[in-house]
Amino acid sequence: MLVEWIRKRFDKTGPDADLPAVLTSAGWQAYFHANAQILREIPWAHGLGITPAELAEIVDSLRAWQFGETSDGAHLLKAAGKYAEQIGDPDLVGAVEAFIAEEQRHGATLGQYLDRAGVPRKQADWGDTLFRACRYWLPNMETWTTPVIMVETHALIFYNAMRLATDCPVLRQICTQILADEIPHIRFQCERLAHILHDRPRWLYTLTILLHRIFFTGITLAIWLGHRRALKAGGYGFGCFWRTAWMKMHWAWRLMAPAGYQWQDETALTPAAATIEA
Ligand SMILES: [Fe+2]
Ligand SMILES: [Fe+2]
Repeated sequence: MLVEWIRKRFDKTGPDADLPAVLTSAGWQAYFHANAQILREIPWAHGLGITPAELAEIVDSLRAWQFGETSDGAHLLKAAGKYAEQIGDPDLVGAVEAFIAEEQRHGATLGQYLDRAGVPRKQADWGDTLFRACRYWLPNMETWTTPVIMVETHALIFYNAMRLATDCPVLRQICTQILADEIPHIRFQCERLAHILHDRPRWLYTLTILLHRIFFTGITLAIWLGHRRALKAGGYGFGCFWRTAWMKMHWAWRLMAPAGYQWQDETALTPAAATIEA
């Protein structure tokens, strides 16, 4: 099955494993469409079952992350369209559209949860504004993709914390679905960066990762400051949060390293064709 096949590929990125090929944009489109067909059922009928005390610990963060998941992606699509034209990969736009649709589904489901809990949705958030400002500063595919990867590595921690902070079966199932979706999101973005970084001279690549580390330090501290109450409710003290964030980002850095992939044509940046078993 396509989705299982993609998930299995995550286990093959160790230094001793056979190098995988980057999945084509058409392959990613197919993945996102297949994933949309196998969504977990949310047990809405059982009621929310979250206690007021549990909700109080997480609600501010939940509202902020729900808001962050609702972007219409117009700027990203514009950047992707321009970039796709530059590299001659028209399927990339469809893949990005399908990616945005998944993020919007996250926002819609979390929004439904807030509505049922009687909590008003957010209309603005300083963290989201900062996140967008980082990407609008230099509107190209690299500056779009890099902050998304960093925030998504933190999303893995945040939604796991939300899952652990309550016994509410609805919220736990929503978070389980989001976590299952976010792991391929990180791979999707990292493979794009692998394309972008492929031709970068060694010294510039090293400098890029150094800048990533500085930027990631800032994002990690900002997320802790903004969401520490909810993270603590899910069992993440600062030390645990910090270590987990860096561990996940190191995984992302491995995924975005061009040396981790097979490239059919080193000079033309054509990825080796990936076989998709539907
Ligand atoms: Fe998401
Ligand atoms: Fe995502």
